[in-house]
Amino acid sequence: MRLGDPPSPGELDPAERVSRDELAALQLRRLRWTLRHAYDNVPLYRRKFDEHGVHPDDCKELGDLAAFPFTTKDDLRESYPFGMFAVPREQVVRVHASSGTTGRPTVVGYTRRDIDTWADLMARSIRASGGRPGDIVHVAYGYGLFTGGLGAHYGAERLGCTVVPVSGGMTPRQVRLITDFRPDIIMVTPSYMLALLDEFDAQGLDARACSLRIGVFGAEPWTEEMRREIEDRFDLHAVDVYGLSEVMGPGVANECVESKDGLHVWEDHFYPETVDPFTGAPAGEGEAGELVFTTLTKEAMPVVRYRTRDLTRLLPGTARPAFRRMEKVTGRTDDMIILRGVNVFPTQIEEIVLRTPGLSPHFQVRLTRPGRLDVMTVRVEARPGFEPREGRERAAAALRGAVKDTVGVSVEVEVVDPETLERSVGKLKRVVDERDA
Ligand code: DLL
Repeated sequence: MRLGDPPSPGELDPAERVSRDELAALQLRRLRWTLRHAYDNVPLYRRKFDEHGVHPDDCKELGDLAAFPFTTKDDLRESYPFGMFAVPREQVVRVHASSGTTGRPTVVGYTRRDIDTWADLMARSIRASGGRPGDIVHVAYGYGLFTGGLGAHYGAERLGCTVVPVSGGMTPRQVRLITDFRPDIIMVTPSYMLALLDEFDAQGLDARACSLRIGVFGAEPWTEEMRREIEDRFDLHAVDVYGLSEVMGPGVANECVESKDGLHVWEDHFYPETVDPFTGAPAGEGEAGELVFTTLTKEAMPVVRYRTRDLTRLLPGTARPAFRRMEKVTGRTDDMIILRGVNVFPTQIEEIVLRTPGLSPHFQVRLTRPGRLDVMTVRVEARPGFEPREGRERAAAALRGAVKDTVGVSVEVEVVDPETLERSVGKLKRVVDERDA
């Protein structure tokens, strides 16, 4: 691999150089403000705190937060559209919303100061990814109600980059613009990055020869194996960015390019916890659990102990010592497949697919119930040029065997021709559940 050395971290923001103790003191101050702000200005929080018998004044140290009730997506839906706002609507300068494919959309709002903080944190994230003022940034996250495009855009501008606001879709044009404008950085979902790769191939262009040095990938789970695949095929540094609209948008946590060892949570603005997804009890230190966030500075829409449904573990900081890291997200509690009593995540399948010679990263998981038992079928594309039938049969058998050995379930495998599975433009849908069909 030619992959250049990661840029040295250089001068950090003073905010990134704090000690753990200074950070904790700042968090406590901001947490107490947030609880008070939420309680005083959002009827839903007042009702929930009262029902729970807790009051903002009860929070004397960070650990006291655990006594406060969780906030869930249902709370946000119940307050549709603007009921979670803690400031008069006139002070909300922007809203974003989730797509609402599984019910009412959830709406989030920002004051001018919130937008400013978001731009700062996204600039910090791009910098941690290796971006520097003067870089050209190709933004292929969707613009609109989704937070990806505009979040990345404001952050890149704030850092002092030249932004190319392409949004998602029109794949041939994306490749054209990358070739002509020679961006240093691309910001896009990892799955759409693979679609761009197909397009480079289709146009007979060498993706490794393109100008991109850094990719800032997020909005969906992806694995170390996928990192290797993308880094190798594009000869760039692939860095993970995490966020969710309820908490802010992209830039809640970001990897540092020099370590690529999980995402530093920007804890001066978001307080993370991990809990048991079933009981809600705090997960032990370094133990896997559902990630829960409390915002520390958000004005328009503070969230208190928001259940993200994302599974990860919290680890001590490395490249930014004061900030804890979250391990790459394994998946969402709602994406977990329970197959004949065994829990399976699409990321586990991704790891194995990418380790199997001859198989491409394009795969889909189909769930059916032909009789009384659930069947999981992994449809995966062969790599181009991997044509011989026996080779494909061998790859299918290898995948079946590895899934059985590592995950502990039997699955069916179909190796299909290259370019047969649907490509994503934004977030990828890995699982098609036809069990109730
Ligand atoms: O996806 C915000 C975002 C945009 C993050 C662009 C990164 C880059 P939502 O649409 O509200 O917001 O979806 C949030 O996406 O709870 C996770 O399940 C998933 N997700 C986001 N980033 C990652 C990541 C944006 N790096 C939901 N790894 C979250 C795994 C991620 N999952």
